[in-house]
Amino acid sequence: MVIVALAGAASGFGLTMLRTFLHLNSKSTTPHEFVLLSRSDKPELAALGVEVRTVDYTNHAQLVTALKDIHTLLSVIGGSAQALKDAQLALVAVAKEAGVKRFAPSEYAGSSNETIALYHPKAEVWTAAKAVAQETGMEVTSFQCGIFMSTFATGTTKRVTEVGKREGAKNGEEEALAGLRPWNFVVNMRAGTADLPGDGTAPIVWTEMRDIATFVYRALSLDHWPEVLGMRGDVKSYRDMLSIIERVQGRRFLVKENSLDVMRSQAAGDPEKVFYNQVRIALVEGWGIVPATPNTAFPDVKPVSCEEFVEQWWRGVEVAEASWGEDKSFMYTG
Ligand SMILES: NC(=O)c1ccc[n+]([C@@H]2O[C@H](COP(=O)([O-])OP(=O)(O)OC[C@H]3O[C@@H](n4cnc5c(N)ncnc54)[C@H](OP(=O)(O)O)[C@@H]3O)[C@@H](O)[C@H]2O)c1
Repeated sequence: MVIVALAGAASGFGLTMLRTFLHLNSKSTTPHEFVLLSRSDKPELAALGVEVRTVDYTNHAQLVTALKDIHTLLSVIGGSAQALKDAQLALVAVAKEAGVKRFAPSEYAGSSNETIALYHPKAEVWTAAKAVAQETGMEVTSFQCGIFMSTFATGTTKRVTEVGKREGAKNGEEEALAGLRPWNFVVNMRAGTADLPGDGTAPIVWTEMRDIATFVYRALSLDHWPEVLGMRGDVKSYRDMLSIIERVQGRRFLVKENSLDVMRSQAAGDPEKVFYNQVRIALVEGWGIVPATPNTAFPDVKPVSCEEFVEQWWRGVEVAEASWGEDKSFMYTG
């Protein structure tokens, strides 16, 4: 059995991935062995049966020891652009020395990183990983999933389900967010507003985070990793999403369209909205469409559709009449 290490899976998306992996392992006749690489010992995660290896990303020799028996290295590091760059470049350098056979950097978004400044470190890490791949034969893949479907969860008052209870979620919103911080990205589900990229008709891949984890889990058993492992939960434009949401919530949304010029000038004028606008521009230009590799390879995995997600988390939730109020188009709410 090969050993799979997850770097940065103690919070956010990575924690949902780790929890999903352990759940799938518990039902599998051929479970994988998982190791967590973290900057601190995580007794609560060790208690789940994961070996935790404490690492210092600036200590090369220590990292080599931590990775010495690792076959597959999955990075789900987040936090900041600096973390995405420094910690991951350290991992790439060590992967080469430790003889890691497979590496998937912390990608988990759209089809490229070039036009989004926050993701430039991802592009740099990719180039470094490809260089190691060429030198050593290590396989490197970019897991791409479009946008997390959980962006439509912020503000739900639904109760936690069995899935959330299993994962220790305090309420339905926490379960639905699955590690994503509460935020209003383009659509504000409570206020009833949509600050669209362009006219909102660009198709976008949306994938629920446990489905992403399930596809990655299954991909661990593939004989060969292609350079891009794109996966799709569902494909819908923001306009398609609004039709679903309006029907489920039983109200009309207030909608703003934003031309490329408007989004470019917003990105230039407000440092807090650079990422938001660069992503919205990329969406208009097709960034939201990624391949459906594991969907084809594992047709028995049935990912949650956008309609199912909205039905589950918004059917019956009381909402007021739509109102712009203060600008909350891109704001963490917690
Ligand atoms: N497609 C989408 O819609 C979408 C949305 C959100 C995020 N994402 C992507 O998902 C990935 C994970 O993001 P996230 O928000 O879930 O991450 P996160 O919770 O902010 O961080 C994940 C882990 O990164 C590690 N980390 C943080 N700062 C670090 C540092 N300075 N040095 C080394 N490690 C550090 C921490 O692990 P330890 O403390 O255990 O070391 C932390 O648990 C990223 O690639 C992100 O771009 C995609």
